Amino acid sequence: GQVQDMSKQKVSAAKDMAFVFDIDGVLVHGDRLIPEGQRTLEILNGDNELGIKIPHIFLTNGSGKPEEARVAQLSKILHQPISTEQFIQSHTPMSALAEYYERVLVVGGEGYRCREVAEKYGFKDIVVPNDIVAWDPTIAPYRVFTDEERATSNPRDFSKINIDAIMVFSDSRDYATDMQIIMDLLQSENGRLHTRAKDPISQRIPIYFSQGDLLCPTEHPYPRMSQGTFRIGLEAMYKALTGEDLERVVYGKPELATYKYADEVIASWMETIHNEEKLPKNIYMIGDNPASDIIGGNMYGWNTCLVRTGVFQGGDNDENNPANFGVFPNVLEAIKTAIKKEL
Ligand code: G3P
Ligand code: MG
Repeated sequence: GQVQDMSKQKVSAAKDMAFVFDIDGVLVHGDRLIPEGQRTLEILNGDNELGIKIPHIFLTNGSGKPEEARVAQLSKILHQPISTEQFIQSHTPMSALAEYYERVLVVGGEGYRCREVAEKYGFKDIVVPNDIVAWDPTIAPYRVFTDEERATSNPRDFSKINIDAIMVFSDSRDYATDMQIIMDLLQSENGRLHTRAKDPISQRIPIYFSQGDLLCPTEHPYPRMSQGTFRIGLEAMYKALTGEDLERVVYGKPELATYKYADEVIASWMETIHNEEKLPKNIYMIGDNPASDIIGGNMYGWNTCLVRTGVFQGGDNDENNPANFGVFPNVLEAIKTAIKKEL
């Protein structure tokens, strides 16, 4: 009767909403759990009055290791199952670039983990800065190259082959070497080292960045510089040396391409959990950073929730990019309020 109709309505409302979670500052701090994060996922994974799954995905500007590894780590911290199918990190959408470029320089991250990421994405021929230093150490005059680094690198004669594009996947661990190599490639003839382009624009290879955050909060009292500041440095150097503006593509939040990609992931995750590939009507973005999570969600027409467990330290709401659904002490309060409104 009536009760059954009401719960049917609620079930369909539950399938017509979805949550998009920022990770750092919302669910975890690095390797440390934010306790409300675990309860949040328990509720969405079915521990709710309807006993059904409420669709949710993860959208982080994090980077530097394969999706499988990051998801396993996260799932362990949160004690909840998480699938790579519901997970987007900054460089995930860049896998689509693998069909356009044969040989790429992959920059950033620890050790050779970003080489692994690029392999998983299907890039055929991956070069990392160490491969180039091992071939010609004079390229980075102040670099101290260890025996271990030499043993694990893959030097070739880069004056005989072209690199087709530059992919900055994660934070540079050695600005001096990486910036030098990137500047050399940008000024080269079609990505061939030891050459200089005759026409700086038509012969310049493209450069991509996985995200644009200027700063990243760490255990240091003030946030540390991130990929955005690295990019601005390169742009300024390029302009000063060539007189030209550097064209580049940036992924990650708050770039539009990343939100479009997120829509596709939500729709196919709906198919996985509820057997219907559709985009729920009411999407809630939960984030801690007004300048990436909230501005992007607002521009894209999502409901935005700002939490106080991360970057945001302000008053009632952020002045420049206010969250349109509200500000909450933590992620659990945010999802409870959203669920109450929708069901
Ligand atoms: O700035 C990189 C990363 O730490 C941000 O992660 O999950 O807050 O987008 P997230
Ligand atoms: Mg965050």
